[in-house]
Amino acid sequence: MQLPNLKEAKVRTKNKINIVKEGFILDDKYKNLGKNKTYYIKTYGCQMNEHDSENIKAILETMGFTESASFDSADLFLLNTCAIRENAHNKVFGMVGRIKHLKEQRPDIIAGICGCMAQEEAVVEEIMTKYKWLDLVFGTHNINNLPEILYNSIKKQKLEVEVFSCEGEVYENIPVKRDSKYKAWVNIMFGCDKFCTYCIVPYTRGKQRSREPKYILEEVKKLVEDGYKEVTLLGQNVNAYGKDLGISYGMAELLRDVAETGIDRVRFVTSHPWDFNDEMIDIIAKYDNIMPYIHLPLQSGSSRILKLMGRRYTKEEYITLFNKLKSKIKNASITTDIIVAFPGETEEDFNETLEVVEKCKYDSAFTFIFSPRIGTPAAKMEDNLSQEEKNNRLYKLNDLVNKYAKEANLKYQDQVVKVLLEGTSEKDENMLMGYTETMKLVNVKADKKYIGQIKDVKITDVKTWSMDGELID
Ligand code: SAH
Ligand code: SF4
Ligand code: F3S
Repeated sequence: MQLPNLKEAKVRTKNKINIVKEGFILDDKYKNLGKNKTYYIKTYGCQMNEHDSENIKAILETMGFTESASFDSADLFLLNTCAIRENAHNKVFGMVGRIKHLKEQRPDIIAGICGCMAQEEAVVEEIMTKYKWLDLVFGTHNINNLPEILYNSIKKQKLEVEVFSCEGEVYENIPVKRDSKYKAWVNIMFGCDKFCTYCIVPYTRGKQRSREPKYILEEVKKLVEDGYKEVTLLGQNVNAYGKDLGISYGMAELLRDVAETGIDRVRFVTSHPWDFNDEMIDIIAKYDNIMPYIHLPLQSGSSRILKLMGRRYTKEEYITLFNKLKSKIKNASITTDIIVAFPGETEEDFNETLEVVEKCKYDSAFTFIFSPRIGTPAAKMEDNLSQEEKNNRLYKLNDLVNKYAKEANLKYQDQVVKVLLEGTSEKDENMLMGYTETMKLVNVKADKKYIGQIKDVKITDVKTWSMDGELID
């Protein structure tokens, strides 16, 4: 039993990061643990969690498990959770209730919780008191140890909790079962050291740890050989890539080298404005296969609130960077994240956020009401807005965001754009779907034989969140 500890999760030392080259080795005794059994994984949260689930799936398959065709029939359930806002908590425990119902009929079912919520002290306490019937809980630092945790849980027939609150290591060569044959997530760094005052990620994911360039480039080259068309370089703060490695090789150099592998499309998320430098912008502008799409979280348009958030930039610095990106990168599409009702946010502060949105006219934005996270400094700040006022601010912001999203999309009407056709469309199974270089979702009238290809598509209809188009040939 190893429980999470908030105090330990906060610690940052100057110790060198340990790189474990063989990050996963399966002991013979776990090889048949999943024989004739199926698994079901539900993933919440960000792309990093999505990618972790791809690793978890592959690890389970080394033990003989196969993916379940449906929720009801699975033998093993894992919920890979997100802790970024409170509402995730309710969703996860709603799902836990559904699994309990199945377990009452089939007591052999194994059920576990992993991911960022598992790193929270309060959540694990809640599990140990109210959900003791669960079988396993593990965190973000020990995915590679899943076979042993599962084995122990089955052997002891009781809840096995193994969560480390540490700075973390870098594990290479973890197996992966990718969800797509055309697009791949590639971790370039783990953790975060920015400690924005509202954010739980530095506590749930540990210290900022970059992977060495050679491992990233090997992974991308292999993906190119395997026919992948797109890679997305992942990190909470990708612009700071390499700063912890103590070498003079950063995100600009990495982007250049990844682009030079010849892969059709290179994307990256997320860019913290603080670390965005001119070299990076020049590289993005120079290479046609680095996509002109940047997610640049604003969080707030008030410099006063930005300071309270610990974001390290002012409204003016953000706008200067935004304008530079727009002027240097041809047709760049820029999206953002915004939090409303941060503790102490006045009407004036909020209006400044609206002003920045009016200036930047984002292609799209993810907007949130501030959610206090236990252990973060902002959770202790005085919050004196009513729920009604918080909701009103969110609605007002969303109206503006949607207006500009639609405006940005309207520019695409009758244009011809390149779309990577990924699969069948959710809204119509006779259509395909994919994304433009600028990350716009397009539903395309096209034959299934084109799945996996980048095609020229003429946009025939534009909506706020998607577009329709047809192939031109
Ligand atoms: N690393 C990214 C953000 C990852 S979290 C960055 O620095 O930009 C994704 C988004 O969730 C954040 O950009 C923020 O807008 C939102 N978020 C994070 N913590 C939050 C909280 N406590 N309440 C509400 N929204 C939050
Ligand atoms: Fe959270 Fe800030 Fe790190 Fe982003 S940069 S993950 S918002 S602490
Ligand atoms: Fe959520 Fe953890 Fe990602 S808190 S946003 S899943 S890093």
